[in-house]
Amino acid sequence: MTLYGRSFLTLLDFTPDEIRYLLDLAKRLKREKHLRIGHRHLMGRNIVLLFEKTSTRTRCAFEVAGRDLGMGVTFLDPASSQMGKKESLEDTARVLGRMYDGIEYRGFSQNTVELLAKYSGVPVWNGLTDQFHPTQMLADLLTIEEHLGRLTGVRVTFMGDARNNVANSLMIACAKMGMHFTACAPEKLFPAEDLVKKAREIAENTGGSVTLTSSVAEGTQSADVLYTDIWVSMGEPESVWKERIDLLLPYQVNEAAFANAAEGAIFMHCLPSYHDLKTEVGREIHEKFGLTEMEVTNAVFEGERSVVFDEAENRLHTIKAVILATLSKQ
Ligand code: CP
Ligand code: NVA
Repeated sequence: MTLYGRSFLTLLDFTPDEIRYLLDLAKRLKREKHLRIGHRHLMGRNIVLLFEKTSTRTRCAFEVAGRDLGMGVTFLDPASSQMGKKESLEDTARVLGRMYDGIEYRGFSQNTVELLAKYSGVPVWNGLTDQFHPTQMLADLLTIEEHLGRLTGVRVTFMGDARNNVANSLMIACAKMGMHFTACAPEKLFPAEDLVKKAREIAENTGGSVTLTSSVAEGTQSADVLYTDIWVSMGEPESVWKERIDLLLPYQVNEAAFANAAEGAIFMHCLPSYHDLKTEVGREIHEKFGLTEMEVTNAVFEGERSVVFDEAENRLHTIKAVILATLSKQ
C-alpha cells in the first residue's frame, strides 16, 4: 500500500483499505509519540498551511505533526499573503508548489482545494471546506475504534445540521467502513440527495447503510455513537441563528437522546462546541434567545460518555499519518 504523491481532498477518493492503512499508521505514530520515540521521517522537507477560516485543532495538528516529522512549517492567512486579492489561486498554487512539499488548505469552496491540487503539483490536504472535512473523519474513526473496539457495524447517529461539512464527511466515512450512518435532522437540513446516493452506493458494497430521519426517537434508537456539531458553520451569516435554533433545538444531544441509545454509547463532537456560556457566541445567543447550551447539554459534554478530547487529540496522530503517507514512499 502506498499513498505517495496523493492529495487528501475528500474520503470519496479513498478505498476502505486505504483508510484502514491511514488509521493503522496513525495508531503507530500515536504509540511512538506517547513513548517519546522520535519519528522525524521527513527531515528537511517543508509544508505550508493556508487558512481562510479560523482554526485551533486543525492548525495545531498540522503544525505539531509537521514538526514531529522533522519538517519546516509555514502558516499563511489571507491577511498576510497575496492569495485571492493580488494573485490568482492558480498562480499561488504554482508558486507554493515550487517551494513546498505539501499544502494544507482550509477555506470555503471544495473547488479551491481541488484547483490547488491541480496547479501546485504537490500533495494538497483538505483542512475543511464548506462541503467536506476529511481529516476530521480519520480522527473520528480512530476514536470510535479505540472506544468501541470496532468500526464494522457500528451505528453512528449525527444530530443537527446534517448537510454541513462534518455531517457530509461522516456519512461518507461510515459508508466506506461498513458502518450504519443515520442523519437525524429536520428534512430541510438533510444532506444533499446526490451525496446520499453516492454514500448509499458505497454502503451497498461494504455492508453499511445510510438512513435519514427527522424522528429523534427513531434516529437515536440503539445508536452506538451520538455525534453533533455546531448549528451555524463558519462562513454562514449570523442571521441564520434564529431559524437554526428553531429547527434544531429538538435535535440537541441530551440525556433523553442517550436514554434511547445503545448501552455504552459514546458522545462525539468535532469541536468547537457551544455547551455553556463560556464563549462570546454562547453568551450572545443566550442574551438573544435565552439558551444556556445549544447542540449538546453541558451534562452530556462533560459526562463520562463524552470522548471529545480523545477525538481532538487524534486529529494530531491522524493528520500526521496523512502527511507521512502522502510525502514518503515508506
Ligand atoms: N474540529 C476542527 O476542525 O477544529 P478547528 O476548527 O479548531 O480546527
Ligand atoms: N461545521 C463546522 C465545523 C468546524 C470544525 C464549521 O464549518 O464551522
